[in-house]
Amino acid sequence: MHPKTICLIPGDGVGQEVIPAAAEALQALNLNLHFVLGEAGFTCFQQRGEALPAETLTLARQADAVLFGATSSPSTPTPGYRSPILALRREFDLYANLRPVFSLPGQFSRPGIDLLIVRENTEGLYSGRERREGDTAIAERVITRHGSERIVRAACEQARQRAAARGRQATVTIVHKANVLKVSDGLFRECALQVAAEYPDILFNELLVDAAAMKLVKSPQSFDVLVTTNLFGDILSDEASALVGGLGVAPSANLGLGTPVFEPVHGSAPDIAGQGIANPVGAMLSAALMLETLGEPQAAERLRQAILDTLAQGICTPDLGGNATTAHFTRQVCARLQEHAS
Ligand code: NAI
Ligand code: MG
Repeated sequence: MHPKTICLIPGDGVGQEVIPAAAEALQALNLNLHFVLGEAGFTCFQQRGEALPAETLTLARQADAVLFGATSSPSTPTPGYRSPILALRREFDLYANLRPVFSLPGQFSRPGIDLLIVRENTEGLYSGRERREGDTAIAERVITRHGSERIVRAACEQARQRAAARGRQATVTIVHKANVLKVSDGLFRECALQVAAEYPDILFNELLVDAAAMKLVKSPQSFDVLVTTNLFGDILSDEASALVGGLGVAPSANLGLGTPVFEPVHGSAPDIAGQGIANPVGAMLSAALMLETLGEPQAAERLRQAILDTLAQGICTPDLGGNATTAHFTRQVCARLQEHAS
């Protein structure tokens, strides 16, 4: 493998615990990886007045991939603060947020689930166009043809790859709320159906987002790839993660034009930060997604298998009902990787 540079951005709270854990697992794989460390987040903002300093952005731009933890964002308007992950997604035009959800070995997970939520990552209700007019607050929900077409294409390409790897029919479910948001989701739906016509090998269906939320709980095994707009994808993916153990195990990839960014779906988890009990599985599975994107599918599979084997032994952190610490779980994963290497 050519040397690859990974920019680690742990961020705030448990990001500072799970990113070092994922980096340890990556190191145990013995690949030709070079790590650089970038600062970002709310603590960084308080200390330096910037949530994403220019030098971090430069490190990220020059790297082959970013492994990002989580940052704390205040829920009240804070002058000068902008969430670093939103800034990175915007800066690198990382329009596709891939959030795979699959069954894990353990009582905490329902069986038979293997789905992928493809979430539009740059527009929708997260386009930052919000304003207050007296006692009225307005958020603009921006949907474009360009944004809709490229996210649905990304979903179709993912569906094809998954179908080829699994030897099964590719299915894409288009999730929207076009019955109420006739103009904005009307355009999203129109674009999705047009792109669908380019993929005769894929089976398409559509669901209104509220029905999709229900069906995800009732019969998650029936889904393959779901594609949807920004906010809906954010909410549905947190929901889906609960079917297989919760936020602590959920990985994601942000793909687009610039450096790809991989991150656990969870936030900075201030309620458990600093206790050494954060679940590193979401961050480690994100590292596996990163290896796949970097052209190292076998290393990705080894890492995934080491995580699954560890969980299958009943070793897991308290959020999954176990009593392992972050450090213990990480040692167990690394031991399995080193065993297989020798
Ligand atoms: P959260 O994901 O931080 O926590 C939600 C619940 O999940 C908590 O009970 C937490 O203990 C648990 N949890 C999360 N990650 C875990 C892990 N690795 N191991 C074990 N348990 C875990 O979401 P919350 O509480 O809504 O937000 C906290 C902060 O994180 C906020 O400031 C929010 O803005 C930020 N946030 C940042 C994100 C990012 O950087 N991409 C994404 C989501 C939230
Ligand atoms: Mg979220």
